[in-house]
Amino acid sequence: MIKAVRGFKDILPEEIPYYRFIEEKIKGILENFGFREIRIPVLEHIEVFERSIGNTTDIVEKEMYTLKDKGGEILALRPEATAGIVRSLIENALHLKCPVLKFYFSGPMFRYERPQAGRLRQFHQFNVEVFGIKEASLDAEVVALLYIIFQELGIEKHINLEINHLGCKECRPIYKSLLINFLSSKKEKLCKDCKRRMERNPLRVLDCKNPECKEVTLQAPKICEHLCTECRRYFGETLDYLNILGIPYTINPMIVRGLDYYTGIVFEAISTEIGAQSAVAAGGRYDNLVEDMGGPPIPGIGFAIGEERAVMLLKKEKKVKEEDPRVFFAVLGEEAKRTMIPIVFKLRLKGIKCEMEHDCRKSLKSQMRKADKIKAKYAVITGEEEVKEGFTIVRNMESKEQFKVKIEELVRFFEEVER
Ligand code: HAM
Repeated sequence: MIKAVRGFKDILPEEIPYYRFIEEKIKGILENFGFREIRIPVLEHIEVFERSIGNTTDIVEKEMYTLKDKGGEILALRPEATAGIVRSLIENALHLKCPVLKFYFSGPMFRYERPQAGRLRQFHQFNVEVFGIKEASLDAEVVALLYIIFQELGIEKHINLEINHLGCKECRPIYKSLLINFLSSKKEKLCKDCKRRMERNPLRVLDCKNPECKEVTLQAPKICEHLCTECRRYFGETLDYLNILGIPYTINPMIVRGLDYYTGIVFEAISTEIGAQSAVAAGGRYDNLVEDMGGPPIPGIGFAIGEERAVMLLKKEKKVKEEDPRVFFAVLGEEAKRTMIPIVFKLRLKGIKCEMEHDCRKSLKSQMRKADKIKAKYAVITGEEEVKEGFTIVRNMESKEQFKVKIEELVRFFEEVER
């Protein structure tokens, strides 16, 4: 048997309604917030990710699916969407075309990570990005939007919104050297990876899951306590706006994020109910990214929701399922089938979900068993006799009530019943 690739998962029909529910609900909210959909390719030149996410991050160092195409170009399956959206903004000069730069995008992402509960190698993200505005009120709006999405999905009580501020070009280097000094004094207690991170990307040490590293970093200087005056003001103002909007949050100085493009506010929606992979969504501000990728100096902020993890929470809260077919057509004999098939089509085009038995040699009993199985509300039973008379039998599957309806009036009958 040929199996799916490790970490790549089929989303089977019974799970699809959860994904649809999430995607449709979020799209509805975002359209009201003035966002427009953008669709970007799955493959990009590898530089798109190297120049944005950062060469020393786990994503770029270890987790990218890369390939050489037949023309010899090195490409990568997108591990995230922000870099691709920024590439598209620059390439299409969207800042000159769109009056408001608010985009959303959903689709699969690819990371070569160790698969476990809530962690896949192909997963789905719903991304939200805003460009061109740098105001604390907007940062609060974006964070609030994330919370409102969880609220509208009915899963807000399963998450905790955690916020931090990563400083700017002025204050972050000063904090970095403070952190390196601190980490150097505790070097022997750090894991092998963190010893390496300390030199290449010291903030990432704060994100290490190793219990001993965690104990060390608890005492480490906190970035939000070492912000410059402007960053401190901006962070305070953002939190003020969140209070005005009534959004609950906690400040978590340990949030550093696994991508290098962040500047300023960063945030994560954390759940304690889905195992070790606890971040259901994450994001932050990235004011230098557009410029770093060769575009004009346009600030940005956004987040991505991990759809698989959101589905895990949604399943705790409610059952989402597709609507069952309303009408089942039992047809006994060829004549009945020929008469009913155009009616089934007409009803479907009028928005009434119908199924018809294609094997008209099957007994009435077995056809009615199928009507029960698919949970149809009505069964329309037609045999040769009925066709001759121009009538059919409609059975209400719940009340078991049966009545005769003229075949030529069937469509109108169901339109009225279903109204
Ligand atoms: P990220 O934190 O790498 O951020 O991913 C965002 C979310 O995607 C995570 O919180 C998680 O729910 C989900 N996720 C990540 N990796 C996996 C995986 N292997 N399996 C299942 N779910 C996963 C970004 O990707 C940024 N681009 C977010 C952003 C948008 N920042 C600004 N704009």
